Amino acid sequence: MSPKARSVYRCQECGAEHTKWAGRCDTCGAWNSLVEEAAAARPAASSKSARRIGGATSMAEGGSVAATPRLREVSGSERERWKTGLDEFDFVLGGGIVPGSMILVGGEPGIGKSTLLLQVAARLESAGHATLYASGEESALQVKLRAGRIGGGAMEVQSLSETMLETVLATAASVAPRVLIVDSIQTLFTADLEGAPGNVGQVRECAARLMRFAKETGTTVFVVGHVTKGGGIAGPKTLEHIVDTVLYFEGDATLDHRLLRATKNRFGSVDEIGVFRMSEEGLEPVGNPSELFMGDRMGDASGSAVTALLEGSRPVLIEVQALAAKAGFGTPQRVATGYDSRRLALLLAVLDKRAGLSFSALDVFLNVVGGVRLQEPAGDLAVAAALASSIYDRAIPRDAVFVGEVGLGGEIRPVSQVERRIAEASNMGMTTVYLSERGVPKRGAGRGVKMVGVRTISDLFQKLFT
Ligand code: TYD
Ligand code: MG
Repeated sequence: MSPKARSVYRCQECGAEHTKWAGRCDTCGAWNSLVEEAAAARPAASSKSARRIGGATSMAEGGSVAATPRLREVSGSERERWKTGLDEFDFVLGGGIVPGSMILVGGEPGIGKSTLLLQVAARLESAGHATLYASGEESALQVKLRAGRIGGGAMEVQSLSETMLETVLATAASVAPRVLIVDSIQTLFTADLEGAPGNVGQVRECAARLMRFAKETGTTVFVVGHVTKGGGIAGPKTLEHIVDTVLYFEGDATLDHRLLRATKNRFGSVDEIGVFRMSEEGLEPVGNPSELFMGDRMGDASGSAVTALLEGSRPVLIEVQALAAKAGFGTPQRVATGYDSRRLALLLAVLDKRAGLSFSALDVFLNVVGGVRLQEPAGDLAVAAALASSIYDRAIPRDAVFVGEVGLGGEIRPVSQVERRIAEASNMGMTTVYLSERGVPKRGAGRGVKMVGVRTISDLFQKLFT
C-alpha cells in the first residue's frame, strides 16, 4: 500500500490535531476553530516489510549511526553572549544574546516590538554583528523611517520586505547575518502548506523551519509574535514550545513605559523584567524601576499604599490605590486593574469579617499603578491598607511600605526574601516597613528603616489609624 497524503484538521486555538472536521474542538472546547491542512505524507514502513526485516533495524531505516561521546568528552564551554548595550534587554535574556538561539518576542500590536528589535539590530550592527531585518508587515521604507528616528547603527541594518518563508531563508543563507529578525511570524507563510499566513499550521511550520535554520547555521533568530485578545501568542502555546526563549513586551498603551518579561528561557532565569521608557528616539532602559513607578505619587491622598514586590530577582516598589465610594443603584461595583478581582473580593470579605469594615454599600476600585500586575500574595497587606485608608479617609504616611500575605482569618503571614524587599525600601528612602510579626528579620536588613511587626489586619489598622 503506498502512503497517501492525509489531511488533518487543526484547532487554531490550541493546535490540537483532529482527523475529522467538527464544529467544536474537543481538546480545548473552542467553537469553529478547526481548519483543514494538508499533512506531509509520512513514509511509514509498511507492516509487511517490518516483519520481513525484523524489529529494530527496520525502524532505523534511512538513519545513520551517530557519535555518542561521554559527557566529559564533550568539548566547548558555555558559549559567548553578544551584548547589545541595551542593559535591560541583555539582563532579561540572562546576560546577552546566545548565538544560534531562537527568541520569540510577543506583545500586543503597537506596544513597541518592532522598535525594540530594530534598536537591538542597530546596537548589534554597531558592535560588528551583521543583522538582517526581515519585515512582512512594513515596507523597507517604513522600516527606514523608524531607523531614522532611532539613529545609531540602525541605517546600516540590512532590510528585507518579504512574507514567503523560503525566500527569507534563502536570503538569510546567502547574506549570512549573525542575527536574523523576522517581523512577524504571523505574516510569514510557507508554500508547502495550504493555509493562509497566521493560521496555526503555518505559524508552527515557519517557526520550526526558522528554528532549524538557527541551529544549523548558528544564526540567532528573533521572531515577533502578535498576542491575541486571550493573551496567548496566536498560533499559540505550541510556538512557545518550539523556541528557546519567550519574551513578552507589555505595558499600558496610555503610559510611556514598557516592561519586557521572560516567560521561558533555556539560557537564563525566567520572570526577570526589564523596564524601558518610550521616547521619540525609541526605548530607553530604566535602571531603577522603583523610581519610575513611585515618581508620580501624590502627596497625602487617602487610599494609597506602597508594597515591595519581587520581579524576578529584583525588588521593586509599587503603589496600590484604592477608592471606596458610595454606590449608586444595584450591585456595587468591584473594579480591579492589575490585580485579580477574585483576590479583591476575598480581601473585602476578610476586612468585613475580621476588621468590621463593610464595603457592601460601596463601589470599590483598585488600581496597581504603572500598568504592573500585582500577583504576589506579598502585596495583600498593601491592598488591605489602601482599602482601609480609603474607607476611613485617612492618608497613610508617604514613607511606609507594606509586605505580607493576608490569610482568611485576617492573620498576616510572612513572605519570602523579606530582607531584599526591606533593602529596596531603604534604598528608595522609605522609613517604615509593616510586615508579619513572625517575619521580622533578626538583624536590621535596611539601614534606617523601622520594622513594625503586625499580627492581624485589625492590629495593623490600629497601629495605622489610631
Ligand atoms: P511599534 O514598534 O511599531 O509597535 P509594534 O511593532 O509592537 O506593533 O511601535 C508603535 C508606535 O509607537 C510606532 O508608531 C512608534 C511609536 N514608538 C515611539 O515613538 N517610541 C518608542 O519608544 C516606541 C517603543 C514606539
Ligand atoms: Mg511591528
